[in-house]
Amino acid sequence: MKLAVLKETEQGETRVAIVPKSVKKLKELGFEIQVVSSAGLQAAFSDDAYKEAGCEIIASNSDAISKADLIVKINPPEASEIDQMRSGQIVIAQLFHHLEPELVEALKSKGVSGFSLDAMPRISRAQSMDVLSSQSNLSGYKAVITGADHMGKIFPMLMTAAGTITPAKVLIFGVGVAGLQAIATAKRLGASVEATDVRPETKEQTESLGAKFIEVKDEGVKTEGGYAKEVTAEYLAKQKEAVNKSLAQADLVITTALVQGAKAPILISEEQVKLMKPGSVIVDMAVAKGGNTALSEADKLVTVNGIKILGVSNFPAQLPTNASELLSRNIDTFLAHLVEEGKFKWDMEDEITTGTLVTGRMAQTENASN
Ligand code: NAI
Repeated sequence: MKLAVLKETEQGETRVAIVPKSVKKLKELGFEIQVVSSAGLQAAFSDDAYKEAGCEIIASNSDAISKADLIVKINPPEASEIDQMRSGQIVIAQLFHHLEPELVEALKSKGVSGFSLDAMPRISRAQSMDVLSSQSNLSGYKAVITGADHMGKIFPMLMTAAGTITPAKVLIFGVGVAGLQAIATAKRLGASVEATDVRPETKEQTESLGAKFIEVKDEGVKTEGGYAKEVTAEYLAKQKEAVNKSLAQADLVITTALVQGAKAPILISEEQVKLMKPGSVIVDMAVAKGGNTALSEADKLVTVNGIKILGVSNFPAQLPTNASELLSRNIDTFLAHLVEEGKFKWDMEDEITTGTLVTGRMAQTENASN
């Protein structure tokens, strides 16, 4: 089977789906690998490194699509790329099928099977294939570093001959994958950290990292399989009261709250932003899903009353080497799960296959989830 690794075309994207280190494993699975020229360059993987690993370098995405049986990329394929695909081909990418039903329709009408990496079930045996987790983990780190870079203060306590600097105060909304890494990173840098989340089990996780948990006493939350499913307006109102004192004292706030399948909840209103100190910074990681603050804008720095609000939509693209390495490992593990003796197994009893296959074989088995 011919596997093509495309060059990402989305603006600002620097990652590549497969790195040379995965090539040996993919070859053992029975793939011949073709990589589009300079696909890995921005992530520090040269064409020569792919050649040495045993890949063929292809001139363009169009050439690669025309020859491939399996097309692997990170971001959803563009309409022009789908136009060039043919029946029987398989695409593995983040397809965001809940948000982009037209894209799934377009693949379906071409007879292309699409596995959506972002639809990986959150079960323990799929953890090593979960691109959202691997990328969120790195992003939680980068959000803290980015916030620190915009602050006029340092994180740790510092005793100097000229006086003592008190530790920075960091407040984190959402203790999922990104939030946990943000807590750990801010703690490592010496900050005093508080965090809040709607899932009660995150209290212990927060405290185990040495941070303080802000509890909201309200029943208005439904959770399922490690995700918040529904949060009531009453809960959000109580949460605002519970966090306002910490918000007023915070030097850095990082928001990572996500409710599955829904727009990001607004956790910091305009009035609450105005409670904050001048010089303080908010990093809104949920900006691509509408944002957790009322004022954040995607990939812009908004300043209100001296408070800086940064909405960054693609942190992993700022760490392309590590982000690509982890993605590539997620994808090669996923392929090892899907493929046997060089052929896709199409195991429709398997939760990982049925959870990620958003168009193609699944549509023929009446299990279509799109
Ligand atoms: P996750 O699902 O592991 O964590 C989200 C957490 O938010 C959960 O623990 C959930 O219980 C919590 N939550 C939901 N509603 C809340 C509320 N009202 N108050 C407090 N906590 C609440 O998600 P993950 O992987 O950590 O990602 C977090 C967010 O960051 C997502 O919106 C994701 O799309 C975004 N993200 C952004 C990146 C970027 O480059 N900007 C990169 C990676 C993720």
